[in-house]
Amino acid sequence: MLSTRKFLDICESVSIRIEAELESLIGTPYGAEELYIGADNTPTERLDKIAEDIVLKEFRENNLCASLLSEEAGLVEIGGEEGIAYLDPVDGSFNAGVGIPFYAFSVALSDGKKLIAGYVRNLANGETFTAEIGNGAYLNGKKIHPSNVSSLKNAAVSLYAHSPEQQYLLSKGYNSRRSRVLGALALEICYVACGRLDCFIDLRGNLRVTDAAAATLILEEAGGIVSLPDGNPYILSSNLCSGSCLLGTNKSIYNEVVNLFR
Ligand code: IPD
Ligand code: CA
Repeated sequence: MLSTRKFLDICESVSIRIEAELESLIGTPYGAEELYIGADNTPTERLDKIAEDIVLKEFRENNLCASLLSEEAGLVEIGGEEGIAYLDPVDGSFNAGVGIPFYAFSVALSDGKKLIAGYVRNLANGETFTAEIGNGAYLNGKKIHPSNVSSLKNAAVSLYAHSPEQQYLLSKGYNSRRSRVLGALALEICYVACGRLDCFIDLRGNLRVTDAAAATLILEEAGGIVSLPDGNPYILSSNLCSGSCLLGTNKSIYNEVVNLFR
């Protein structure tokens, strides 16, 4: 039987090990060295590989789930009887490689039908976001909620968009109060969950399940809304080579944002 509690406990010890192993590599060319192209078709840096190896070893020793889909290694067997984990060993690898203290270990557990637990930890400062299905979301063990900012003109938004999408938004009258694009989207979605940001929009079409799974559960459990930008449901896809767009907001601002895309 899958245990979300055990999953989160093991994520905690894994992430402490990752922090220790990566410490001397953060902000160094050696840590940022690109070793090969990972399963998601983007380069795997040395620090991604080190973090991923730690996760695979500990998850296997604990038979934590049946399989795991990782940004770098793709789909691998873990040895447990059921469940699949979605892993991004280092979300924000560029930040980690150059020493910007905003990068995360991000992993979610699914029972095969739905996400049941999510864990996102900023490896630079230890801040840890967690959620178990039906039990709310937490930052360092304290319950969190999105903001109640109710209009885009007053909102702090993390917006990932190429120039045509930016042009489109401008043509629709898009105007936010603050823009914050921080370079580790799992953490940015968690920032919406705890009210530091009001809205997360990714229009690039390359967001993968490994990037977003844990943070989307955390945002929904905190009381926010996750969907495609036009309001259609965001459905997790196991295809690492094709990505998606994503919208995550507090409840008050959601309709205004979705209306921009209808
Ligand atoms: C990246 C970060 C970044 C986003 C990229 C992602 P990675 O994750 O989340 O914010 O702009 O699309 O790929 O590659 O560092 O795990
Ligand atoms: Ca990554």
